[in-house]
Amino acid sequence: MSATPSGKRIVVAVTGASGALYAVRLLKATLEAGVDVELVVSDYGKRLLIEECDLNLKTQDLGSWLDERYGPVKRRGTLTLNSAHDLGAGIASGSQRWDGMAVVPCSMKTLSSIACGASANLIERAADVTLKERRPLVLVPRETPLNVIQLENLVRVARAGAAVVPAMPAFYDAPQSFEDLADFIAGRVLSLLDVPHDLVRPWKGDPSDSGCLAGE
Ligand SMILES: Cc1cc2nc3c(=O)[nH]c(=O)nc-3n(C[C@H](O)[C@H](O)[C@H](O)COP(=O)(O)O)c2cc1C
Repeated sequence: MSATPSGKRIVVAVTGASGALYAVRLLKATLEAGVDVELVVSDYGKRLLIEECDLNLKTQDLGSWLDERYGPVKRRGTLTLNSAHDLGAGIASGSQRWDGMAVVPCSMKTLSSIACGASANLIERAADVTLKERRPLVLVPRETPLNVIQLENLVRVARAGAAVVPAMPAFYDAPQSFEDLADFIAGRVLSLLDVPHDLVRPWKGDPSDSGCLAGE
């Protein structure tokens, strides 16, 4: 049972695909929302966090790093860092409760492992458990272009119940920064996990724009 304000507990996995900032922004918003986070970062995920965000989880505390980068962050949720190599961790078992899992960003390697149920590390195992327990699993794949094997793996995980949120931010809200772009994806993921956030403004139709479709 969670002691934090939302009463929610989610698993966040970071793998070695480009776009570590998506994970950072999602983690910030999740902690602010008062969610307990079980974090798992693959070896290449750690490398991408260093290369793209200058965040070294071996030597730096994520909370302090967030404060330094974005000013004091109201952390209402807890963060537990799990080793990706520990298949004996609590989140390796469906007997533990969590409300959903996001793999962000999701490499093609981890996607293929989830698609075939490999469970060779804690990220793959927790994703497998999330699916078998019928809990929400959200994957944010990042690769381009995609080959047929990758496309088929996306279909396989979608058929198994995962939500696929490709790292494809939209530009209609006039993003001003990388953070704005990352927040668009982080917000869509959090909505699927039913975590409250204000990262994405709901689209409001503008009837005055409809004329352009009629060539007026
Ligand atoms: C700098 C760098 C960028 C990478 N970007 C991607 C990427 O965008 N998408 C992807 O699928 N793999 C990417 N890779 C390859 C993965 O990191 C590699 O397949 C790794 O085995 C993934 O393992 P993991 O899923 O356990 O993190 C990248 C690797 C490096 C070093």
